[in-house]
Amino acid sequence: MNSQWAIITGGASGIGLAIAQDLAGQGVNLVLIDVHAHAFEAIQAEFQALGVQCLCHQADVTQIAALQAVQDDLAQRGITARLLVTAAGILQPVEDIADFDLAVHERVWRVNYDGTYHACKVWLEPMRAAGQGAILVVSSIMAYRSSPLLAYAPAKAALNSLVAGLAVSAAADGVRINAIAPGFTLTKGLQQQIDSGQRDSSRVLSFIPMKRFVTTDEVARTARFLLSDDASAITGITLPVDCGWLAGTGWVTFKELP
Ligand code: NAI
Repeated sequence: MNSQWAIITGGASGIGLAIAQDLAGQGVNLVLIDVHAHAFEAIQAEFQALGVQCLCHQADVTQIAALQAVQDDLAQRGITARLLVTAAGILQPVEDIADFDLAVHERVWRVNYDGTYHACKVWLEPMRAAGQGAILVVSSIMAYRSSPLLAYAPAKAALNSLVAGLAVSAAADGVRINAIAPGFTLTKGLQQQIDSGQRDSSRVLSFIPMKRFVTTDEVARTARFLLSDDASAITGITLPVDCGWLAGTGWVTFKELP
């Protein structure tokens, strides 16, 4: 992976940043795209110290023109990215449909689904033209089970379907497209939700067979695997990284987790 370029949306924090840090450790140069720019300077300094190049772009993934502008800038610099990670995403409040604000519903779909679709639309074609590339979409375990997240979960389920469809369309062109479905991952965002009482950590942990949260490092290492040639025969899948949460959801119908 050394000296390749990877584009990461949502790369300024949480899972996206952890994937960026992991890839930087492999010598991969980075293009980070995020709607929030406040962390860019510190991140660039961190990666410079590791000896990899890092370009940061403040852009909103819901605006495809903003992503196209990033691609135009890369083309001008003569940079061709063979790796794309779409990690930009937002959560939603737990609401009944009667109370769930339509504007919030639309924004959650726009960022989580359209944002990834836009990134694939901009970067899949150059990868196909080059005859090589790997795309990694950050989905969620919520895609697989019923939940009160009435926009977030369906948007993530739609991403899994998109990944399978795009993977087939690009397979013969040498481009692989996969997704990971993280379980409850202890990012600053999740920690803030726990601290503010929006999530009850002991309740969440009681449904996780391994009795702990996923770490961002564990998600990043799985992402690295799926992006690497070690996964050269894998395309069109969504791989859960969830400390057993999905397996446990059937079990708890009968008895508490051991
Ligand atoms: P985070 O909030 O730390 O990271 C998300 C990043 O996306 C932030 O830097 C944010 O500024 C950026 N972003 C948000 N809207 C954007 C937009 N319109 N355009 C460009 N950038 C935008 O959250 P976290 O937890 O790291 O989430 C990353 C991904 O992982 C998301 O897709 C999320 O749905 C997914 N995920 C997270 C889980 C968790 O437990 N933390 C579990 C399963 C999935």
